[in-house]
Amino acid sequence: MSTATPTSPFGKVQPIDIVNLASLKERARNVMGPGEFGYITEAADDGITMRRNTEDFANISILPRVLQGIEQPDQTTTFLGAKLSSPLMTAPIAGNTLAHPSGELGLARGAKESDIMMAQSTFASKTIAETAEVSAGAPYMFQLYMPKDWDYCKYLLDEAHKANALAIILTADSTLGGYRELDVINHYHLRGKIANLDGYNTGQSGVGAGGLFKESMQALDLPLIQKLADYSDLPIIIKGIQDPRDAVAAIDAGAAGIYVSNHGGRQVDGAPGSIACLPAVAKAVNHRVPIIFDGGVQRGTHVLKALALGADLVAVGRPFSYGLALGGYEGVSAVAEHLKMELNIAMQLTGCATIADAKKLHYDWL
Ligand code: LAC
Repeated sequence: MSTATPTSPFGKVQPIDIVNLASLKERARNVMGPGEFGYITEAADDGITMRRNTEDFANISILPRVLQGIEQPDQTTTFLGAKLSSPLMTAPIAGNTLAHPSGELGLARGAKESDIMMAQSTFASKTIAETAEVSAGAPYMFQLYMPKDWDYCKYLLDEAHKANALAIILTADSTLGGYRELDVINHYHLRGKIANLDGYNTGQSGVGAGGLFKESMQALDLPLIQKLADYSDLPIIIKGIQDPRDAVAAIDAGAAGIYVSNHGGRQVDGAPGSIACLPAVAKAVNHRVPIIFDGGVQRGTHVLKALALGADLVAVGRPFSYGLALGGYEGVSAVAEHLKMELNIAMQLTGCATIADAKKLHYDWL
């Protein structure tokens, strides 16, 4: 075990062996408090949509190509001009100190070491500036929960700009929190520090996700996209798109990217698995803007399927939290490297030399 000095902001770190991403959940349960673990792992209502997220990948087949003369697939790619070792991103997750004391600092360092995209949540445990210090020079995006107060919003956008964020990801699916029973059972309220609220204290720390969402704007609408774009000068990506009509409307209203997600099944239970929504959204977007996808990704073949169905960047949420809990930034990096290893096998065995080939895989046989 390599242990950082006690004063290190990265806390205790250690390499972790990974057999598969799915097995990380039970391992993380052993190192996290029940309330914290419950909050990260839970879904809305009966967890139907969360289960569908992973299960629906099984309904999609890959038709492998052979004799393609491939010896070493190249999974490097670019997103908004940033070079990445793989089309992977840490999905924005609130309060990462719930998983590990290093919180977003560990997440940022792990993502940087593996050369993948990092996205930081408004409800992060570390400020944008603290995280940016670690992620400096590495590809980074900021996720915005739209505050009711425009001055506070401007403060967040300014901080994101200073942090060299490549884009602002506006989450549109959380005008209220989904009903999440584990928090009720555990009497759990998101207890971690919400660092970005410090400069603008709402006094709402400890109220749980529902309370935090109430602090955010409920009446999100299309004109908001242009307002944010005008002020920040950064591309605005809309997260939480499931219906192709919303994708088209968002692009027409100025969105520079579409993020297909059902919030890990934490919002509307009964929504389709996220991967089931992707083809229709990708068709409607028609390559006008890039697409980020998340929802249930646990395998390299899941990443490949998402790319084949229209994603440009594939985000992973909970598995990175579990990796962080188990090994600090080394655990985060281990999750990324494991997925890359599985994706490499999937690309080699399906005849994909590049990410561009992976994106054509599905359409080749339709
Ligand atoms: C959640 C929010 C905070 O799902 O993203 O808990």
